[in-house]
Amino acid sequence: MSKDFKRYLITSALPYANGPVHIGHLAGVYIPSDIYTRYLRLRGRDVISVCGSDEHGVPITIKAKKEGITPQQVVDRYHAIIKESFEKLGISFDIYSRTSSPVHAETASAFFRKLYDDGKFVEQTTEQFYDEEAKSFLADRYIVGTCPKCGAEGAYGDQCEVCGSTLSPDELVNPRSTLSGATPVKRETKHWYLPLDQYEQMLREWILEGHKEWRSNVYGQCKSWLDGGLLPRAVSRDLDWGIPVPVEGAEGKVLYVWFDAPIGYISATKELTPDWEKYWKSEDTKLVHFIGKDNIVFHCIVFPSMLKAHGEYILPENVPSNEFLNLEGRKISTSKNWAVWLHEYLVDFPGKEDVLRYVLCATAPETKDNDFIWKDFQARNNNELVAVLGNFVNRALVLTKKYYDGEVPACGELTDYDRETIAELSTIKASLESNIENYRFREALKDAMNFARIGNKYLADCEPWKVIKSDAERVKTILNIALQITANIAIAIEPFMPFSASKILKMLDCEAFGWESLGAMDLLAAGHKIGEPSLLFEKIEDAEIQKQLDRLDAIEKQNKAAEVKAEPQKAECSFDDFQKIDIRVSTILEAEKLPKTKKLLKLTVDTGIDKRTIVSGIAEHFSPEELIGKQVLVLVNLAPRDFKGITSQGMILMAEDATGELRLLQPDKKTNNGAVVG
Ligand code: MF3
Ligand code: ZN
Repeated sequence: MSKDFKRYLITSALPYANGPVHIGHLAGVYIPSDIYTRYLRLRGRDVISVCGSDEHGVPITIKAKKEGITPQQVVDRYHAIIKESFEKLGISFDIYSRTSSPVHAETASAFFRKLYDDGKFVEQTTEQFYDEEAKSFLADRYIVGTCPKCGAEGAYGDQCEVCGSTLSPDELVNPRSTLSGATPVKRETKHWYLPLDQYEQMLREWILEGHKEWRSNVYGQCKSWLDGGLLPRAVSRDLDWGIPVPVEGAEGKVLYVWFDAPIGYISATKELTPDWEKYWKSEDTKLVHFIGKDNIVFHCIVFPSMLKAHGEYILPENVPSNEFLNLEGRKISTSKNWAVWLHEYLVDFPGKEDVLRYVLCATAPETKDNDFIWKDFQARNNNELVAVLGNFVNRALVLTKKYYDGEVPACGELTDYDRETIAELSTIKASLESNIENYRFREALKDAMNFARIGNKYLADCEPWKVIKSDAERVKTILNIALQITANIAIAIEPFMPFSASKILKMLDCEAFGWESLGAMDLLAAGHKIGEPSLLFEKIEDAEIQKQLDRLDAIEKQNKAAEVKAEPQKAECSFDDFQKIDIRVSTILEAEKLPKTKKLLKLTVDTGIDKRTIVSGIAEHFSPEELIGKQVLVLVNLAPRDFKGITSQGMILMAEDATGELRLLQPDKKTNNGAVVG
């Protein structure tokens, strides 16, 4: 039986501050957590939602090295971008903190120290990979190699991104240092381990027996970890970026990022309120972690073991975790720039924050991986938001303006159809609540949209624009009901599309309602004057979508080009062989397409020796106009050849780019025609 909780503590996985946030993060974690939080707030619950940037760990230092800046500069940059873009999207954290904050350093340190003092760690000296060139131990992502599970190249010391396996550096085949490329050696080092095996029984009872209601992907992953047997896990690293291990003799060692980051939830709560302990230390609090599927083990196994070891903290009631969102059929990849970045979306689609929230919720990968498709984004905007939601609200308001000068008409006697419509709203309300409370946000969104669908259907069936001629009294009731439904929509969609909800309230000229008002038919009093109607959503044109698709095309081309391996070198040629070749700087004087051919251009070039004709198969790559006047390199002593009855005397030299495009080769400054190349 579900228990009644006095308060809620919602956490969302702290994003790594090594890059901006993309749609995968949003669909997987931040949009669901925001819907849940907003819903609870609307219900008047005591709820706080905490998040912040995860600013430690190897991904940050690697990024810094790559860009030639300090780790601090990396996290400052991305923390600012992430924080601002979340705000603009209406993600309503009560606090968005960062793990470089002093409160966090102090909290994480004290947490470690308590476990240390209570003898909860096992101290162990082991041999670990060390890069002798870079004079550094190779923690986690500083080491790459071949994945032992799937054979992919470039698997990291902690994880293979291709098959998703969690790895330890020792399992990598052919390990290499990412610092110097060197083959690492083994060297002894001391670390602190949390003996997870000691928590196995607790975890089994708590999860496998106590939380069978968790999503099957989460439950299944926990079960397979527990069935596989847990091992002690190191909670410190030999790195210089992180929170120092607060123990004597631990110079050069910091807390493992996955030890400090989840404590960030606690630090953020502390920064938010002096009352933080009641959220973390009372069984009356419902703690819910929203995370991505690659975070399951840390939130269901490791962090709960840490919390238990500490002894004062509650465990999460649920850990809703999504599968992955792909983009146009391909895995989202930060390194390949295959993503839709939130901060860029906000620039490209100003005022369309709710559209992204809507589409990402409607396509959220709740039970299986799902795809973000730009055409689908457009279709959902145009066919659902504009045509259903926007259309209904607009009709209700515009008709009220037109017939009653913006005053809410009184509701007269209800017909059976009116009563059925109203009853339907209550049924959806119950379904909407149960779906949100059980973390089924896609279904919940459908319910919320059903308020608009019902409204739309009601107006279409009642046809007030016709009835006005025969029965003006009846129209008052129809529009009263339509306006009450509009006010209901403002409540029902608020968790999903907060900007549109407040726009509706503004158009109705009324204050926000609480969730308890949902389903009521007396939200707007007769005689209340509504505000000015305006469009809730606008159609998205093909050109806007094409722009996004073109951007992805360009990225794909770049990525392909980056993957291309140069052709192997040809057989050796002697200097004498080379001497036979005569290449001259030349200028293209004339160019025209050869009739009845697709590829051929007839060029007249000045080789300095003479003016001659060259036929070249480049018509699909260059227009005649763009060639005329260009200097190029011409192989002039190539044996003449006939094309369509025209003799070609030479060859223009070109290089084919990996994208398949041809590039002319030109001298870097204007050069006299006939200059010898060699
Ligand atoms: N930064 C991690 C990631 O992006 C998530 C950290 S969640 C926390 O995968 F629990 F550690 F905070
Ligand atoms: Zn693998």
